Amino acid sequence: MKKKPRITALDISDVKIAGVVAELESKNKITVLSYDITNESCLKNGLVVDITKAAAVIKNFVKKLQHKSHTSSPTIAVNITGEDLALSKSQAAILISNARGIITSADLKAVISQAHIQGVSLDRKIIETLISKYTVDDNVEVINPLRMYAKKLCVQLSVVSGFTNHINNLRKAISRAGYCVKDLVADPIADSFSVLTEKDKEDGVVLMNIGCLRSQIIVFKKNKMEYLKVVNRGGADITKSISSSLDVSFEYAEELKRRYGCAQFYNNQKQEVVLKKDDGTFKTINRNLITDAASGGLFDVFDFIDKELKKANIYLEKDYKIILTGGLALMDSAIEALQAKFHLAISAGVPRGYSVVNELVAPNWSTCLGVAKKSLINPPYVPYSRALSAPRYIIQKFNDFMTDYF
Ligand SMILES: Nc1ncnc2c1ncn2[C@@H]1O[C@H](COP(=O)(O)OP(=O)(O)OP(=O)(O)O)[C@@H](O)[C@H]1O
Ligand SMILES: [Mg+2]
Repeated sequence: MKKKPRITALDISDVKIAGVVAELESKNKITVLSYDITNESCLKNGLVVDITKAAAVIKNFVKKLQHKSHTSSPTIAVNITGEDLALSKSQAAILISNARGIITSADLKAVISQAHIQGVSLDRKIIETLISKYTVDDNVEVINPLRMYAKKLCVQLSVVSGFTNHINNLRKAISRAGYCVKDLVADPIADSFSVLTEKDKEDGVVLMNIGCLRSQIIVFKKNKMEYLKVVNRGGADITKSISSSLDVSFEYAEELKRRYGCAQFYNNQKQEVVLKKDDGTFKTINRNLITDAASGGLFDVFDFIDKELKKANIYLEKDYKIILTGGLALMDSAIEALQAKFHLAISAGVPRGYSVVNELVAPNWSTCLGVAKKSLINPPYVPYSRALSAPRYIIQKFNDFMTDYF
């Protein structure tokens, strides 16, 4: 029986590692064989700060995760996050110089690497390339230029990149742990894979993953990526807001945030909560004061994101469906509070298309499951661009030849 494609996928953040071992069941259907989450951190501000320590944490985690699914594999797929992730648009053109005047796969690769050189600085590593459009000759837009007669080929790309050194440090930690990185997936791209439908991307959607220290935002319209950004605002800012408003420790504020969220109880003035202060004393406060502080922090985070989007001429009230995912979407009444405050329709985004236990159909698993899905089902943007074994390489060359000349 043919072996099903399988991947160990990780979502590494500053505060946790979540992982799954997943198998591609059929087109678009993924089964999760095992999953795990640890609060051990191996990043700071999205970066590896100690390769040896990070390697040890990753090794321990992956070993346990794979053991649970009775599998073992040296290859893994991993997310990339951090403020230095950026989307750039670039374009390039080449002349079709072969005697037959037909666009070959070598021409496609050449024009794309030209566009990479034009659009991405040398200190950055390309994580994702999406073709916005191809045009041939005098601006005739085509979907697939391969084997077409043409004198000139142009391409417009959307390229997601991060700093090469940061990415290499993560790769190094993973290889020290004894694993090899098969795929690197930018957080917002992973989220889009697990949460969005093709229709969302066609109609226009703003997907926000509000996590712990960061929020990842990605915007699609007409099936094209319009915007991608990671900002340093997240659930921890809401916890800080509760902590400073009520004068309690960060840990206790986190507990209050998870327990009470943003649900308001103005009609029930008797809802009182006993607060334990850091000095060991107790005081009773109205529950609304907790949810007011939580809502205030949440509105500040959302307002920050909204301003960032406006800088890029993306107006939430117009033309976009808004989907909220990430751990913050679990906060009690957060979506309702945002809808009322900003007069917007917002829905919660959870992973779809997976055969998983209910626990994983939750917004805080969007990134991890998206990394798995991207790695398992997404074809490379240039056919056969992934590293291949020798026999496959020969078959690929033969296929290229047949495609280009017949
Ligand atoms: N039930 C809940 N109620 C309120 N907040 C919650 C709940 N569950 C999780 N959170 C918050 O969600 C945040 C963590 O979300 P998530 O797991 O998506 O972040 P992360 O991926 O670890 O970090 P990041 O994406 O920022 O790198 C924390 O601030 C946490 O307090
Ligand atoms: Mg995250």
